[in-house]
Amino acid sequence: MNLEQNIKKIRADFPQLGISINNHPLVYLDNAATTLKPKVVIDAITHYYSFEVANVHRGIHTLSEVGTRHFEETRVAVQHLLNAREAYEVIYTKGTTDSVNLLAQCFGKKFLKPGDEILLSLMEHHSNIVPWQMIAEVTGAKVVVIPINAAGEIDLVEYKKLLNSKTKMVSITHVSNTLGTVNPVNEMITLAHSVGAKVCIDAAQSIAHMKIDVQAMDCDFLIFSAHKMYGPDGLGFLYGKEDLLNEMPPFEGGGSMISEVTFEKTTYNVLPNKFEAGTPAISGIIAFKKAIEYVLELGLDNIKTRELELLDYATSEIKKISGIRIIGEAKEKSGVLSFVLEGAHPHDLGTLLDKQGIAIRTGHHCTQPLLKHYQCSAAARASFAFYNTKEEIDIFIAGLKKARDFLL
Ligand code: ALA
Repeated sequence: MNLEQNIKKIRADFPQLGISINNHPLVYLDNAATTLKPKVVIDAITHYYSFEVANVHRGIHTLSEVGTRHFEETRVAVQHLLNAREAYEVIYTKGTTDSVNLLAQCFGKKFLKPGDEILLSLMEHHSNIVPWQMIAEVTGAKVVVIPINAAGEIDLVEYKKLLNSKTKMVSITHVSNTLGTVNPVNEMITLAHSVGAKVCIDAAQSIAHMKIDVQAMDCDFLIFSAHKMYGPDGLGFLYGKEDLLNEMPPFEGGGSMISEVTFEKTTYNVLPNKFEAGTPAISGIIAFKKAIEYVLELGLDNIKTRELELLDYATSEIKKISGIRIIGEAKEKSGVLSFVLEGAHPHDLGTLLDKQGIAIRTGHHCTQPLLKHYQCSAAARASFAFYNTKEEIDIFIAGLKKARDFLL
């Protein structure tokens, strides 16, 4: 689909794009934090709560069977989205953070011992740092940091030097939520595998913006959240290779994840149920299929092209403002533009933009080690989605100039 030609219709699919904030039409440029939701997703949630409420995998009555079928259809949709070999390699979680915690705990308990190394890059989100630190503390493994260069790209020479027989896990972001850098994950996975390490790709910031093929990538694990791909919040995914998922112990105990329970010994269910204790986010899971269908109808290649056009335009316009320093100038980027304005605190910029109806993110972006590297404690960030327009970027740039004139 030609997104530019259909932009009016596309924008009409997102009710929130029609609202005003502080008496200005909303300009939503905080898509890396969460994306807006199309009506098809909202309608699917409303439909479930209006007519199809039932628990899944627990009843033989009609509603439970229909619900379970829809619930499992989303798993197949995610399998196809990722090109996973099997649907049961897709585990439902509460979000990317939950996925990393699951993985760190379960992988760590099975595979990590004292002296083992977990490689993370300097640009990781806190959610891809802290869970690994927690399991390292318990197992005696060590977290090792892959450095980056001034442009915000992983230093591949250093990465190669850090890989060794003690490396058991490399967990890296596909796209940095702060820098927008698209990491060379294919090459990094091949290198990690050459020393026998497993690799987890954090696709939270890439899943909605480019095609992903876990078999071609050959990653061992991949994680992402639904809410960053036009779906509901409270829902995420862990893809894992079948043999590894089978070898790992379960994460949380409860209903669904068991095969048989006695007070003497409990046996566990097969994949994917082994990792899905308790009643899941049924409405969100069912609705997320609509988000996947929506994105695939627009076409991930079209989305990528459009968002890069928006990024290039915004980058060239923001560079015209004196005192702006862009954080993250990698050769390959996704639609994320972080910056600081000398002499102005990002929060003040954010507040003044908000008064003009413009939503951006300000703060440390859950990447404190990275911002420390860039010698700042906070940055401002505009992040783009296919429904954004050049006109909105013009409003953002004009708003930024106005904020600068007010502050400096
Ligand atoms: N990780 C999300 C962001 O970067 C919340 O904004």
